[in-house]
Amino acid sequence: MFSVRLVIDPDTAFARVPRRIFGTFVEHMGRSVYEGIYEPEHPSADSRGFRQDVLELVRELGATTVRYPGGNFVSGYRWEDGVGPRDQRPVRLDAAWHSVETNQVGLHEFADWAQDAGLELMYAVNLGTRGIESAADVLEYANHPSGTALSDRRRANGAEQPFGIRLWCLGNEVDGPWQIGHKTAEEYGRLAAESARLMKFIDPAVELVAAGSSNAEMPTFGEWERTVLQHTAGLVDHISVHAYYEESDGDAASFLASGTGLDRYLETVAEIIDEAGAGPDTEHPVGISVDEWNVWYQRRWNEIDKPRVMTGEWPEAPRLIEDAYSVTDAVVVGSLLVSLLRHADRVSMANLAQLVNVIAPIRSEPDGPAWRQSTFFPFQRTAQLAAGRVVDPAAHPDAAVPVYDTARYGSAPLVDAVATLNDDGSIALFVTNRSLDEDASIEIEIAAAGVRVVRAQTLTVPAGGDRHTINDADAQPVGFTDLGSAARLVPGDADGASVLHLTVPALSWSAVELASTPHTSASDTEDDHV
Ligand code: AHR
Repeated sequence: MFSVRLVIDPDTAFARVPRRIFGTFVEHMGRSVYEGIYEPEHPSADSRGFRQDVLELVRELGATTVRYPGGNFVSGYRWEDGVGPRDQRPVRLDAAWHSVETNQVGLHEFADWAQDAGLELMYAVNLGTRGIESAADVLEYANHPSGTALSDRRRANGAEQPFGIRLWCLGNEVDGPWQIGHKTAEEYGRLAAESARLMKFIDPAVELVAAGSSNAEMPTFGEWERTVLQHTAGLVDHISVHAYYEESDGDAASFLASGTGLDRYLETVAEIIDEAGAGPDTEHPVGISVDEWNVWYQRRWNEIDKPRVMTGEWPEAPRLIEDAYSVTDAVVVGSLLVSLLRHADRVSMANLAQLVNVIAPIRSEPDGPAWRQSTFFPFQRTAQLAAGRVVDPAAHPDAAVPVYDTARYGSAPLVDAVATLNDDGSIALFVTNRSLDEDASIEIEIAAAGVRVVRAQTLTVPAGGDRHTINDADAQPVGFTDLGSAARLVPGDADGASVLHLTVPALSWSAVELASTPHTSASDTEDDHV
């Protein structure tokens, strides 16, 4: 067991939790749409073909926004294929994922579904094979009230009222040589700027996201952002970051420090935004939209699945990147959420990529069940509890936070935590223990007298399992367990700090919910057990 001492001081709160940080992503890819959210023959499907069992889990996840329709898919997509009578929609090749796209779900169906799910729609335009005109057209079709050919076509197709989509992505991963219509930073910067100008003429209320780098290891990372911002600063509202992590060659220590990698990635992009004169205090600030983030076993995809999928066959809704997530993966997802919250002053939104079946917290089987993967839990709990202002807990002046060495990121803290202070006085605390074999005894001084523990839970290796244990259709052993007496609060007196004592298991991610309670008396120092 090792010890950690932290301090939560409300005076150090530095930003409000952006609710859009709990976004997610549905791409026309694999079984995300078809057999994921949409399966007309499924017993739970409604009259429009949407699976209600999946929809229930999506609601339970508590996400706020949803990016659509891609991803790599969007760089070859014609949005017009997905509107109008379904029996007249064309079947097309989707070259990005070597599949056949039936277009049975398009803008209208997805906007309806997103509304049912309580998700704000974030729509990506194709700046791969298409350009300014098609970006302007889909915006006019979606958002212009009426009286033009495109808006009246939307009305004729059943949507009398505009969809009112506010968030728009200007293409996807254009820096990647794998992208359909891949471009240099200069080519993309100009195209994004001109698309942005026209889109804002059509609807000044839109918020636009310029495409940043596909990952921090891209050889063009940094230069790409600088060039794109040279062209687009003042026109766009966000620049994207895509960040996927995986355990490579059994190096669990580095994998568990992925949040440290994300911290550095976000801080570098924030510096570039500042250099471009688009920092938070400028007239037209640019936020960071972490459009896609998650654990994704890309090596497995590149070496095993891709050669299998990219054959002469063009399947419909094939099984693509359906990663089964373990306890370790869930702990990393939890720690990535800690990192996103820690940068709430710069991260304007973020999307867990993706939502159903494709590297997703929710899985479903055709004509079968839907279930929560391990990664569902940290996301759901953070989205539910994180509210108000963010505090990055400081190390106690008498005790440095222990660190460990990683091959990939160098030194990283063993315990990684963040807290949010809600306006009603409640506090949420999220804590990752990255040690693979040692429990952590954590003492947290909270400069607030009247608080009590409402719920303290941890996600860790389940009894009888190991760090590779997963949830599947038949068994779902991974989830939260109560910390019980391992979470103990010693309330402070009128002027003093309360002290929370937590003992969290090795390899765990924990969420603690504290509510404000009227102060009773200075002598009332009885321990408050969960
Ligand atoms: O989320 C899967 C893929 O990852 C997306 O299509 C692409 O944008 C990224 O490379």
